[in-house]
Formats: sequence, C-alpha cells, structure tokens
Amino acid sequence: MTLEQFQSRLTTPSAFEGTVCWQAPSNIALVKYWGKHENQIPCNPSVSFTLSECHTKTSIAFKSSPQFSFDFSYDGQAAPSFNKKIQQFFNHISPYCQYLSKLKLQINSVNTFPHSSGIASSASAMAALALCVMEIEKQLEPNVSDTYFFQKASFLARLGSGSACRSIKGPVVVWGSHGSYSDLFGTPLISSLHPIFEDYHDTILLIDRGQKTVSSTAGHQLMNGHPFASKRFAQATKNLDHIISILKTGDLKAFVELVELEALTLHAMMMTSSPAYLLMKPATLEAITKVQAFRQKTNIPVCFTLDAGANVHVLYPNENATLVHQFIQTELASLCDQGCYIHDKLGKGAKKY
Ligand code: DP6
Repeated sequence: MTLEQFQSRLTTPSAFEGTVCWQAPSNIALVKYWGKHENQIPCNPSVSFTLSECHTKTSIAFKSSPQFSFDFSYDGQAAPSFNKKIQQFFNHISPYCQYLSKLKLQINSVNTFPHSSGIASSASAMAALALCVMEIEKQLEPNVSDTYFFQKASFLARLGSGSACRSIKGPVVVWGSHGSYSDLFGTPLISSLHPIFEDYHDTILLIDRGQKTVSSTAGHQLMNGHPFASKRFAQATKNLDHIISILKTGDLKAFVELVELEALTLHAMMMTSSPAYLLMKPATLEAITKVQAFRQKTNIPVCFTLDAGANVHVLYPNENATLVHQFIQTELASLCDQGCYIHDKLGKGAKKY
C-alpha cells in the first residue's frame, strides 16, 4: 500500500446519517518505538503485544452538514479537554478522508481501564476513532476489502498517535519499515507464533496514576540529535529480528533477556536526553528488582517491561499464572498506587459493535 492508495475521493450524499461503534485495545511494545520523523514515521521498527482487557469503546453518530464539526463526550459527559488532540487527528487524516468535510460527528468514548491510571490511552482511543471513521467510509464504499479496511484504519490511527497503529489487530503487531513490514501501518506478525505466547499474560502495576512530567511526544522529539540515537535505532532493528525468531521458537530465556533490555534501553534514552529526565519512580525499581529476584528463585520465566512512564508490565506464560498472581498479590500490590493493578492477556484485536 502507498500513501496515494489511502486517499479517498468519496463524497457524502446530502442526506447521510447513521451511527458506528468500535472497540480497540491497548498494546504494550516489546521492541520500543522511540524517535520519529514527520507525520509519525518511526525512526525504528517496533513490535507489540495487543491486550485484551484494556480498551476504548467509541461510537460516532454522524449526519450530513455544510461543514465538518465534532462534539466529544467521555462516558456521556462533555469532555472539552480532549478536543485539541481530536481536532489534530482530524486535521491529519482529512486529506485521506475527504467525505468527513461534509459531516457533523457526535463522538462518545469510554475506557475499560481507569481513566487516570497512567496507562497510555491514546493508542486504544486513536485506534477506536480511526476504525469508526473507516466504518463511515465503508458505508459510502461497501465493497472495500477487509485488508484495505484494517490497513487504512491502522494508517489513520498512526496519524493520531504512532503506537495506535499497533492497536487494530492482534495478538502481535509489527510496525516500521523492515522486510515486508511498513512504516505506514501496523501488520500482524507474519511468521507463526509459538503456542507458549498465545495466551501470554501481562499484569499492569499502576505505580503512579499522576500525569507524566514529559509526554511521549516530547520524549520522541528529544531523540532528534540524541548522542546515542543512531546506535539505538540500529539496535532496535536487530532486536526486532531477534524477537521475531524468539516468538516463533518460544525461547523464553532469550525473550526475558531481550524484553527487559528493551525496557531499560527506552528509559536509558530518556535519562541521557538533553534535558535528561526520569520517569521511573522508586516503586518502579523496587518492582523490577522483585520480579528479577522471583525469577531467580523460582525459575519461572516472568519478566517486566515499561512504557514511557512509571508503571510496570509483568509478563509471564499462562502455565505459571497461579503462582505469579500469588507473587503479585503478596509482593507487588503494595508498591502500586492504592494497591491497583490490572490482569490482562494477549488479545485478538479490535471489535465492531
Ligand atoms: C514508549 O505512540 O504515545 O510507548 O506517536 O507521539 O503519539 P506519539 O507517541 P506514542 O509513543 C509510544 C512510545 C512507547 C513505545 C511504544 O509503544 O512502542
């Protein structure tokens, strides 16, 4: 697919209205996207697990109108603080969705995870919004193929937030130019997934529910001119090849090593940016240390990863879930903000309502 193929010249009939609704999941990167060019083109390829419990459900009621406008509500309540980000999304996607220019949209979203949990909600939110837009496009052009529908949804989601393009499909999605993978949209892992990963678990420890001091978007920018940038981008590409082979062979020792290396490298980039900053909290480090000690003591291949914040994702196979849940309850829960954590698992991707 090329940029041109995503340009739609469809126009809206004068009496066109309806409602569409999609639910999109959050995702957690194993090899991290950190650093981008213009238009959300990543500096390196990345890969993520799609989650099954943390998602955003969005509906759009649309109606013909002389010009484009939207209203946004969160869980039925007007939520003007989101308007800027949503307006930016529509500005970015308008060349590819001209039919929107004659529509008035009433958008309502709700997350299944706590709103102020520190869990990145922009990936699931932008993916759900993009899928709703594609559902409107499909009403104008019912013959679009599923491939086109989902690739363009991922393409549009990316224009809202880079990692959102990995929140359309599951269970493992690659984004970024590498082999047959694309910079423009996320693609489900092409090679087969070892059965050990099919029902992999991710428990998210909500270490800090406050607003992050440096946003991901600002963090990406600090990779411009970063002294380690080129080495980091080359390392991520190498790590992607390596993890693709691990996901196929099921080598959990190698998985643990690589996933933790990626998480710590992401934060090392932040700590060596100019200005340097730190998003991990003391409880983040305590949780990491406890996960590693538990792994050493029990030989259970549990590991951690981090996103651009203080929260810790604890990853482990289904066959070890009972023991790991006990460990989380007894040793990690007390490190979480108000004792909060979320048990999640690998998921299949977005769902239409
Ligand atoms: C650390 O996708 O949130 O989670 O494209 O500026 O919206 P923008 O950034 P965003 O960055 C995510 C960064 C990350 C790593 C990852 O998900 O790959």
